Amino acid sequence: MSSYYLLIFAVAGLALLFLLKKRAQRLPLPPGPRGLPFIGNALSIPAERSWLTYHEWSKIFGDVVYVSALGQSIVVLNSAQAISDLLEHRGAVYSDRVKMVMAGELVGYGDYAVMMPNDARHREFRRLFSEVLNSRWVEELRPLQENKVRNLLKGLLERPDAFREHIPRYIASLVFEISHGHTVKDDDDPYIRLAHQIDSDFSELTVPGAFLVDLFPFLRYIPEWTGVTFKKKARRFRQTLTEATDWPYQQVKSRIAAGNAGPSFTASLIERVRNEEDEWNFKRISGMFYAASLDTSVSSLESFILAMSVHPDKQRKAQAEIDRVVGSERLPTFEDRPQLTYVESVIKEVYRWNPVAPIAVPHKYSGETDDEYRGWRIPKDSIVIGNSWAVMHNAELYPSPFQFYPERYLEQEDVRFNPDPRKFAFGYGRRICPGRLLVDDTLFIAAVTVLALFDIGPLTSGDVPQYTPYSMDFRSHPEAFECSITPRPHIAARDLAYS
Ligand code: HEM
Repeated sequence: MSSYYLLIFAVAGLALLFLLKKRAQRLPLPPGPRGLPFIGNALSIPAERSWLTYHEWSKIFGDVVYVSALGQSIVVLNSAQAISDLLEHRGAVYSDRVKMVMAGELVGYGDYAVMMPNDARHREFRRLFSEVLNSRWVEELRPLQENKVRNLLKGLLERPDAFREHIPRYIASLVFEISHGHTVKDDDDPYIRLAHQIDSDFSELTVPGAFLVDLFPFLRYIPEWTGVTFKKKARRFRQTLTEATDWPYQQVKSRIAAGNAGPSFTASLIERVRNEEDEWNFKRISGMFYAASLDTSVSSLESFILAMSVHPDKQRKAQAEIDRVVGSERLPTFEDRPQLTYVESVIKEVYRWNPVAPIAVPHKYSGETDDEYRGWRIPKDSIVIGNSWAVMHNAELYPSPFQFYPERYLEQEDVRFNPDPRKFAFGYGRRICPGRLLVDDTLFIAAVTVLALFDIGPLTSGDVPQYTPYSMDFRSHPEAFECSITPRPHIAARDLAYS
């Protein structure tokens, strides 16, 4: 083709882009509640349980709702269709993250997968996650999962009502074995202490409005010697984060050098190190693994216990299925899973009923210009929230959504209803949770073995607990509750299987 034609194509292409951009700028914004001058909807966006308010707004304005806060555009997607159209099909430009000055920049979380921008380094991190944390590897971990769950069962047998202590200990022992090949001996374990510390720091960092520097980024330039508290805190949090990242990584390195390292996620990363930059990145990937796993997995298991406690009829049905498929002479294993269809439905319903991540982690639109969707304008740099809670409580998708009803997945005659909630529980597109297969195995083996051996009794702590409400923490788990847990009558035979 001659250069003349090339020039014509280039000019036509540019003109088209210009026209599209102009057109997008003329389009209306998606509907939403009216805001005030300058501050927009800042006063009506709740800091707690924002997913419920967004859901209410969607009943008035439709599934795509627009709000703004202090000039920041926020688009909330309350339907599976809108989420799929934008966060999945247009994932190339809807997968960025919101910059949080305090947590991301000053403390350093911006260098960890969950908060980093959608750039080449993020793609490299994701590639490494999927290279190591793939379905084959998750399958290879099943014998370890079957073995580790015995810690939980043993704890429940010895002190049945202390399940809120046993669950985090069991999850920590499983996660650190997988992530660093480290065997947790007791609660005083240094890995657990570091994990608790960064978890509590992260919770503090994500309390809405806690740090003015997030609202007024120029404050970041105030030097620490002036005595400002946020700078001191940032330094302290940064030190803990660095220690929680470097120290466990160095332990694996030393064990590899000494020739006594077992297989682990971190060991697989260390094998791939080619230079210093790799090492710096891999430390952060390895730290992210355990930071992202602990609280989320604990929360889903606590939800399971709560669900069984308040729905005894569903519990009996699941136990009857386990007794029929597995018998009483052995513990259930992953091989039983395809036959345990009711247990599988209970697990799906746990994911849906009170999701661990009700609004996933917000994405950001990073296109060069405003975007167009269904005739609306999505402004450049909008925060885009996939309201997973709203999707999983949409009566048109999940009839009687507030009922805990595992049967909905078995009685399904029309595939348009009751889709597998795992499609929504783990986020979307290029940011979808890389640990979803692993944690799904963990929830299954813990749920099925607990149901095989124990009766989960009614709540002994009063009303059904609420779920933690913080919108910016991204994670929600049941507030403290107590219920009785008692060994089932025929436990003696199975007891032998793990003593
Ligand atoms: C019940 C347990 C879990 C739930 C509900 C969960 C859910 C989520 C959600 C909703 C996101 C955000 C997705 C988005 O932005 O659209 C996410 C991100 C992430 N999860 Fe999980 N997760 C769980 C367990 C785990 C585990 C066990 C790991 C261990 C590897 C893990 C690692 C990550 C990482 C690294 C990210 C950041 C991904 C990115 O931004 O590219 N998660 N998870």
